[in-house]
Amino acid sequence: MKKVIVISTSLRAGSNSDMLADKFIEGALKSGNDVEKISLIDKDIRFCRGCLACQKLGKCVINDDVNDIMQKVLNADVIVWATPIYYYEMSGQMKVLIDRMNAMYALDYKFRDVYMLCTAAEIEPETPERAINGLGGWIECYPESRLAGTLFCGGVDAPRTIEGNDKLQEAYELGMSV
Ligand SMILES: Cc1cc2nc3c(=O)[nH]c(=O)nc-3n(C[C@H](O)[C@H](O)[C@H](O)COP(=O)(O)O)c2cc1C
Repeated sequence: MKKVIVISTSLRAGSNSDMLADKFIEGALKSGNDVEKISLIDKDIRFCRGCLACQKLGKCVINDDVNDIMQKVLNADVIVWATPIYYYEMSGQMKVLIDRMNAMYALDYKFRDVYMLCTAAEIEPETPERAINGLGGWIECYPESRLAGTLFCGGVDAPRTIEGNDKLQEAYELGMSV
């Protein structure tokens, strides 16, 4: 049994990437894992100020929801990021959270497998490439971890258009396999 943290970064109701995340969770639960989902919808997450105090303190000086999220990330075996593609990149809110968890850089971490689930209006397979590369930069900073899998569902734009899409089944199976 693995401890799995799923961070769903879209802020809109009926989010396609969130539905992908839910299917992944269903699969991961089915295969007996301990899964916790964190949606950024109700979270207070401010910008990184670049002060680097975190490297000495082991936590961020800004008092919002980030330090709690970071503890969960540090103690999980598997991290799953779900994001809409915004301008061929990860969502801004996902990047802000990554930056704000900079305290982790100086700390021990347990996670090994990182997954990325993403959705976009376009269907070209290269649409998520920059987002995946961007997450790759984060993973490189935690050399014990690796990009274990990615799942891209293109052709979905309006909320809930992912309903009935075969990629939901793929997300379920990917979740089963963690
Ligand atoms: C600010 C913004 C930028 C976007 N940029 C892209 C893009 O570069 N390529 C693309 O195919 N879709 C783009 N989209 C569409 C979203 O990726 C698409 O609607 C996706 O399904 C949203 O996921 P969500 O429902 O989980 O929020 C953009 C949407 C927004 C709001």
